[in-house]
Amino acid sequence: SKHLLGLKDLSAQEIKLILDTAGPMKEIIQRDIKKVPTLRGKLVVTLFYEPSTRTRTSFELAAKYMGADTVSIATSTSSVTKGESLRDTAQTLAAMGADAVIIRHSAAGSPVLLTRYIKASVINGGDGMHEHPTQALLDMFTIQEKLGRIEGLKVVILGDILHSRVARSNIWGLTKMGAEVRVAGPPTLIPKGIENLGVKVFYRVEEALRGADVINVLRIQRERQKKGLFPSLREYALLYQLTPERLRLAKPNALVLHPGPMNRGIEISPAVADGLQSAITEQVTNGVAVRMALLYLLIGGGN
Ligand code: CP
Repeated sequence: SKHLLGLKDLSAQEIKLILDTAGPMKEIIQRDIKKVPTLRGKLVVTLFYEPSTRTRTSFELAAKYMGADTVSIATSTSSVTKGESLRDTAQTLAAMGADAVIIRHSAAGSPVLLTRYIKASVINGGDGMHEHPTQALLDMFTIQEKLGRIEGLKVVILGDILHSRVARSNIWGLTKMGAEVRVAGPPTLIPKGIENLGVKVFYRVEEALRGADVINVLRIQRERQKKGLFPSLREYALLYQLTPERLRLAKPNALVLHPGPMNRGIEISPAVADGLQSAITEQVTNGVAVRMALLYLLIGGGN
């Protein structure tokens, strides 16, 4: 496919190809080669209807590393505020010659809608509570890089599963790659029926952490939660925060991930976030490498 809409649609082989391509891309970043000409003459557009620090910036950097031109549309300062529809915005981008459009939107399914309006490759940068495939790909790349494999590992996804597109994409990706996925959090933040996706559900974080190889800590998404939701932030921190004491229940070399932005002191303690087992800043670098790989595979050589 020329689009990346979600990991539900990808095979294990396709995921492996992206992860394998990201390795050499990371070398380009680390050798500080500012530009390779792979995407010269291509136009990459980021179209973000929701805020972002990491995803938008890393797509722009990834495109620039490979010589593409980039345009970024923050809808709060665009004609979307005047009521322009997704269709008309898409046609405008097409007229400007976009080769790839990365879209983030609060509505699930908006990336697939965009594919109907534009010939460019469409990449999902996060759609509502549905999927955030590039985040899961960079999480898997980080796991593979640090622990040497994904297959057979026990991966805990901890926290606000209900509102998390990051959790859904990770579940699709990790289960396809042969990991044992555990989701843990308060019953109010774990959707009913999630075990049908092939994961184990834990309401007590201590049980989930026992023998874990990886803990992916999610942000508590207050902006998507209705008022008065249980538990309160204080209760959440008390019962579910990843603290050094709880982390000791996992394997000694267990890896700690967080997609960012973090609520320090809520879902993760600062000591864990900044600790030796944390790969949180490395995830950001890996995000650029994975997005370079994707742009290369979708709009580079021969396409
Ligand atoms: N992890 C992530 O998607 O971060 P941003 O919202 O800053 O892009």
